[in-house]
Amino acid sequence: MTILGIESSCDETSASLIKSTGEKLEVISNVTASSLPLHATTGGIVPENAAREQIKYIIPVLKEALVSDFDAIAVTVGPGLIGSLLVGVETAKTLSYVFKKRIIPVNHLIGHIYANWLENKNIEFPALSLIVSGGHTDLFIIENHKKIKWVGGTKDDAAGEAFDKIGRLLNLPYPGGPEIEKAGKDIKFDNYNFPRPIINSQDFDFSFSGLKTAVLREVQGKKLSNVQIQEISFSVQKAVVDVLVTKTLKAAKELKVKSILLGGGVAANQMLRDDLKNKSGQELFIPPKSLCTDNAAMIAAAAFYNGEPINWDKISANPQLSFA
Ligand code: KG4
Ligand code: ZN
Repeated sequence: MTILGIESSCDETSASLIKSTGEKLEVISNVTASSLPLHATTGGIVPENAAREQIKYIIPVLKEALVSDFDAIAVTVGPGLIGSLLVGVETAKTLSYVFKKRIIPVNHLIGHIYANWLENKNIEFPALSLIVSGGHTDLFIIENHKKIKWVGGTKDDAAGEAFDKIGRLLNLPYPGGPEIEKAGKDIKFDNYNFPRPIINSQDFDFSFSGLKTAVLREVQGKKLSNVQIQEISFSVQKAVVDVLVTKTLKAAKELKVKSILLGGGVAANQMLRDDLKNKSGQELFIPPKSLCTDNAAMIAAAAFYNGEPINWDKISANPQLSFA
């Protein structure tokens, strides 16, 4: 079975072919066009601009990815930006109608979880998945491929959103996450010791808006030196990673899982990857960095394990798609 995946929920436009060969999922193609350079000029994503870029990219990306025939189409139907989602969803519907292939609708967050199955097939259940992206910070428990439950998430800003907002406070380019990582790479000590919001709460929730406020208080009205920017960047990462890892390991212990899976754009962060690797008692799976950020292969993988094919006229984009 070969699945064509399409992802366009935020600022990337991606198409991929994956093929199941017995025990393995093979990525035949995974082509992603990013409009990040454009968003860097506005210091963040302007939804209208993102969708306009995606209309330009979707056909060239599909042409490059479609190197063989396919049996079904997987597409991200939400959550995301409505204009962006519509580009992928309407393209998928058109292909479905023309080629008479059914569509498998995919929740973007489930896509991030399944990036882990593109490389590893032998993940033991129950598994706990931490999804950390620009829009989400959520913990899921995966009992099996058809039973995924949300167990906690952020009460305010997502981890990536916090990095992006703090990046702006430090006058770093957009997106803040990778820039903060770069700025802090040579620092060894946590000189600022920013707050770790709700790190010791009983639930599996997160909160990052207080961290952003703490950084704002620190930098307000000051002209920061390069060293100060580097030290603040390091300390911000330390605080975010500390909270993410502590809460994830607490959930893993209490929910008695056998594996921990990481996913989402912030999972590209090396400090997070290393800290979780050093402290996790369970088997840990982390996708390669290229599969942590938005891509269509993860959407096709989610469709393969977790999705149901339906007719094109039953598919619609839902920017607020929640996890039921
Ligand atoms: O999953 P993703 O590509 O898109 C969403 O679904 O949001 O995640 C993008 C987010 C941005 O907030 C970006 O700053 C963050 O991931 N990010 C990082 C790193 N690379 C991307 N955050 C920290 N360290 C990184 N290396
Ligand atoms: Zn994402």
